[in-house]
Amino acid sequence: MVKVKILPDKENASEEVAGLLYDLIVQKPHAVIGVATGSTPELAYTLLADKINENNTDVSQLQFFALDEYIGLSWEHPESYHAVITRTVTEPLSLDPAQVHIPEAPDDATEGPVRYYDDKIAEAGGIDLQLLGIGRNGHVGFNEPGTPFDAPTHVGALTEMTRQDNSRFFEGGVDEVPPLAVTQGIGTILKSRKAVLMAFGEAKADAIRDALTEPPAEDRPGSSLQLHEDCVFYLDEAAAAKIDH
Ligand code: PGA
Repeated sequence: MVKVKILPDKENASEEVAGLLYDLIVQKPHAVIGVATGSTPELAYTLLADKINENNTDVSQLQFFALDEYIGLSWEHPESYHAVITRTVTEPLSLDPAQVHIPEAPDDATEGPVRYYDDKIAEAGGIDLQLLGIGRNGHVGFNEPGTPFDAPTHVGALTEMTRQDNSRFFEGGVDEVPPLAVTQGIGTILKSRKAVLMAFGEAKADAIRDALTEPPAEDRPGSSLQLHEDCVFYLDEAAAAKIDH
């Protein structure tokens, strides 16, 4: 089931999500948190780090699992998700890198399941709260349209639209964006106890409409979240412009 919260802007929505994360961390010091990359969650991470640092909150027992990572991009590359998560989550929250897991697949992998990551999540007790963004084509993680809803963590190809959208992070443009990634599957995401998807800006309005108002279907990955037992979408007015509210 998906609940929708529409906030006036990204700042208000990020503040709410940071509060939700902070409350979880206080209530459950050994919580397992799924973290997304992309520009959408960055402010929520900054606000969460502020709360943790102001209150001297114990973060030593938390575990974090990233959603995805490019294939064939060195971890030292500033846009590898290893580097992005280090910069936006591990360092600001003063975590030990051993608390933060990022999926890996061999550089020569081209497709197929990567099951060790789902096993590792299960061994940690399962994800308590999974943060998500959504792509303009409705992808969640790097689950592009057509991904089966029961997919485990796997290697898959990125669409041209996704590579174009992510090229803004790469100095060398779209040619530098890897064509393949390893991602938690939709099946993995659906197992999280709670999922929180954030989307801001008018570019996401079609994907949000398709995720919420169309029946669940594999060509609309975001619509899979209708099958989640506890999912909340935090939207700004622009991202919510094409749904009734
Ligand atoms: P963004 O990406 O947060 O950079 O918009 C979201 C996504 O592609 O899932």
